[in-house]
Amino acid sequence: MVAAGAGCFTPRKLAVDGATAYEGTSLLYSVKNIEQFLGKRLLILGGGDSALDWTIALEQVASRVTMVHRRDVFRATPESVEQVHQLARAGRIDLHFGSICALKGDAPNLSGAVLSGSDGSTTGLDCDIILVFFGLTNKLGPISEWHIGAAEDEIPVDPITMQTRKAGIYAVGDIAQYPGKLKLIVSGFSEAALMGRAVYEYLRGEKPRFQYSTHSHAMQSSEPIPHAAYIEAEPLQAMPSTMALQTDPTKVTYVLVTDLAGNEHSLPAKPGRTLLEIMDAAKVPVKGSCFGACNCSTCHVYVDEAWFNKLDPMIDQEQEALDQVSTPKPFSRLACQIEFRQELSGMKVKLTVDTIPD
Ligand SMILES: Cc1cc2nc3c(=O)[nH]c(=O)nc-3n(C[C@H](O)[C@H](O)[C@H](O)COP(=O)(O)OP(=O)(O)OC[C@H]3O[C@@H](n4cnc5c(N)ncnc54)[C@H](O)[C@@H]3O)c2cc1C
Ligand code: FES
Repeated sequence: MVAAGAGCFTPRKLAVDGATAYEGTSLLYSVKNIEQFLGKRLLILGGGDSALDWTIALEQVASRVTMVHRRDVFRATPESVEQVHQLARAGRIDLHFGSICALKGDAPNLSGAVLSGSDGSTTGLDCDIILVFFGLTNKLGPISEWHIGAAEDEIPVDPITMQTRKAGIYAVGDIAQYPGKLKLIVSGFSEAALMGRAVYEYLRGEKPRFQYSTHSHAMQSSEPIPHAAYIEAEPLQAMPSTMALQTDPTKVTYVLVTDLAGNEHSLPAKPGRTLLEIMDAAKVPVKGSCFGACNCSTCHVYVDEAWFNKLDPMIDQEQEALDQVSTPKPFSRLACQIEFRQELSGMKVKLTVDTIPD
């Protein structure tokens, strides 16, 4: 029985070419052993509490700490922010705003990184170790290799039994997908009850007798519940099929979305919908783990410069969520926070690596 939601939380990775070759040796996502930073030139990426706390702590251990954050606003306790600014003013750490666009050094050992500033300039930064604190994202992990159709964080199931395409493997909750599915807590409970009934039959070869705990003497007593055929099974419903991207430029209002392969798609867009909803409706594969709650930043897109200033301004929460993305740019936005209006018809956006479903 799989009830894995959207997967396990794992650190959000640095999306720079060749980064995995350094991972575990000189590119780290957590601190396991402080001594490994002794006398090293350390680059810390991120703008949340973890990045600031480790900058403050490791400034006394490393030979030099350089901190890089997307913008000059931090998501951390005011005391830590003040302490980091004090360290920078005192010349004890270096503080840069921008994002890392390339790594240098013979893998797995880093010798430096290239900083891309918000003005498009690039600067070389020397370092032996990079510590990345871009927050957490969810990954399905090995479940996606079980050959039960797990794609885009979802497993197709028969909505009557919750059985996956493999007999004896069932899925419930957010990970289970069928036509009309609503990702709600109450749906998960209902699906678990349906699954329980189906699993009983799978294991015992007979249908369970359906009873309410409020009325069943057997359930209220400690006696085992008698088995009896009671519920008629309904016919299996067809599994949902994945629709191709719609490319209909004849609609009155539309947005132009360029996918990661560089192909541009014209998507019908209704005013009042968010860009994420528009892409979802057109079956554009965008992760969007928090379903528009401005929490996950997995709907990160680049808006064409000509359209960027026509959008409603960002709220603080969107700015903070964008701090977690691995490839920020000056025209970065979250698709779930862009409300489409008539005047935005023809707007061009590009998908980013942050949107790739697991
Ligand atoms: C921002 C937000 C707001 C929401 N608000 C509401 C609301 O107001 N009302 C409502 O009804 N619903 C709401 N939901 C939806 C609701 O949270 C989900 O429908 C529900 O939590 C799904 O339950 P689940 O058990 O399927 O998954 P989860 O609650 O995600 O639980 C899955 C668990 O499995 C674990 N796991 C994952 N992979 C593995 C693995 N490989 N091995 C072991 N463990 C693993 C995870 O760590 C997690 O603990 C909201 C969702 C979000 C994102
Ligand atoms: S869907 Fe999570 S931030 Fe947009």
